[in-house]
Amino acid sequence: MLATVLYEQDDHRWIMFGRDANKPDGIIDTNQYLIQSGNQAILLDPGGIELFAPMLSAVLKYVPAEQITHLFASHQDPDIISSLGLWDQALPKAELYSPWLWESFIRHFGMESIRFRAIPDEGMTIQVGHTQLQFIPAHYLHSSGNFHVWDAKAGILMSGDVGAAMEPTDAPLWVDNMERHAPKMKKFHQRWMPSNDAKLDWIRRVRQLNVKVMAPQHGRLFKQPQVGEFLDWFETLPVGIAIK
Ligand SMILES: [Fe+2]
Ligand SMILES: [Fe+2]
Repeated sequence: MLATVLYEQDDHRWIMFGRDANKPDGIIDTNQYLIQSGNQAILLDPGGIELFAPMLSAVLKYVPAEQITHLFASHQDPDIISSLGLWDQALPKAELYSPWLWESFIRHFGMESIRFRAIPDEGMTIQVGHTQLQFIPAHYLHSSGNFHVWDAKAGILMSGDVGAAMEPTDAPLWVDNMERHAPKMKKFHQRWMPSNDAKLDWIRRVRQLNVKVMAPQHGRLFKQPQVGEFLDWFETLPVGIAIK
């Protein structure tokens, strides 16, 4: 499991975990993120059940278990949070922030000790250590109850399945050329994102932020100018297409 520090200032850090070369065949590769601030940390989209052991050992190199006080699940998919039952045993005092819409589904992954904190449809702001994190609505992109995470201080937007590309585990970390990268994202976005209205609404919201890095849950990350190029590309892409 590759761990990369995306941002570090004082005691505020973003670390990305992914590109797991040992993942079983037939399973989609995922990016997991840890935000650390002071003596608290949050794990964003901690991943599938098969990834729990390598994730736990990778994360513990950066932060002790008792400081992982928060978990976040952008939506209900198994690649996002099917590891919940195991985190529940490892971090019994942690709280899981997730869309209210999915509580009764997510609990099927196993949740006895961790407390469920429902995010309302309009989003909310939480404090982790000294850092404020905003849950930005991203409903229907692709899940009907879905949030992204905005860290204004770091300028990083964790964008879940938006911006995702299916790539081998040895793919570079950053998008360097949008023209070459766009074909790798096209079918995924057309099939998985059901609503053009929701897409345009999200783009409007994200353009108001000063996003320096966009960090999706699959594939490469975007810096500027590629973040802006992605928004322009996504704006013109018709989505919600299964059969032509
Ligand atoms: Fe998903
Ligand atoms: Fe995903």
